[in-house]
Amino acid sequence: MMKISKAIFPVAGLGTRFLPATKANPKEMLPIVDKPLIQYAVEEAVAAGITELIFVTNSSKRAIEDHFDSNFELEATLQERGKQELLDIVRGILPEGVSCAYIRQKSPQGLGHAVLCAKQLVMNEPFAVLLADDLIDGGSVPCLKQMVELFAEKQASVIAVQKIEPEETRKYGIVDVAASEGMLIAIQGIVEKPHPQQAPSDLGVVGRYILTPRIFTLLENTSKGSGGEIQLTDAIAELLNNESVYAYRFQGKRYDCGSKLGYLEATVAYALKHPELALDFKRSLEAIIA
Ligand code: UTP
Repeated sequence: MMKISKAIFPVAGLGTRFLPATKANPKEMLPIVDKPLIQYAVEEAVAAGITELIFVTNSSKRAIEDHFDSNFELEATLQERGKQELLDIVRGILPEGVSCAYIRQKSPQGLGHAVLCAKQLVMNEPFAVLLADDLIDGGSVPCLKQMVELFAEKQASVIAVQKIEPEETRKYGIVDVAASEGMLIAIQGIVEKPHPQQAPSDLGVVGRYILTPRIFTLLENTSKGSGGEIQLTDAIAELLNNESVYAYRFQGKRYDCGSKLGYLEATVAYALKHPELALDFKRSLEAIIA
């Protein structure tokens, strides 16, 4: 029985929808209240039992490496000033026993290409992929943990999906349903950003995947697809010729933090449940709206 211990975080996209904020700053470092998006994704992975984090980065994403590294000067100053609580927060960003590896994607050739860049680090085992700009509040069981549990049962690739509005199919990979048992769906096809009239269902893929290693060989043979990029979706479509793939309607709320509206919604939702801020923020919000 294969266990999932590695996760890929593709963070080499350009983040054009957030310019100019993302000109020099990675999109994944945008904060929701007081934590960057990438830290939420890493915490979700760690909660699912992941111990090896693989970041696919580019030259403008160094802040991500720094965030998960120790900062000697900051820690020494906080210690000197007796700021133990802050010191614990800074030191606790990466839990014990969890390691990070970084690999560069030389040019943004698509999500599929970014995942393929991590092949040598993943080797021949199933792995997770998390897109940090999809922030998922899974409630008591984080989304990836739900998926790891399903993988343990099915020993097959699992992709997170959610119901989307029919006119939004051009923003998502859309799955073709073969059979469903509750929230778990056996799929028979998947297409990237179809026209609403060509969409095989109203279930759109969101940024959480558990994939079997065969996907790497398929990615090596995947040519450019939608948007002139090497699409993970196209390789998953090929994977279906060899293996079962499941779509999973996860429990929880997903915020599309790659878009300004989704980012703002997440900020408000997380502030409204933040223990120190909730009450005051609610008052401020009511005053703004009134
Ligand atoms: P997006 O489609 O959100 O693209 O990529 P983007 O470049 O980050 O943002 P926009 O659309 O220009 O605003 C989905 C995920 O795949 C990663 C991104 O970092 C993001 O997490 N990605 C995409 C790569 O790592 N490399 C790529 O070549 C493309």
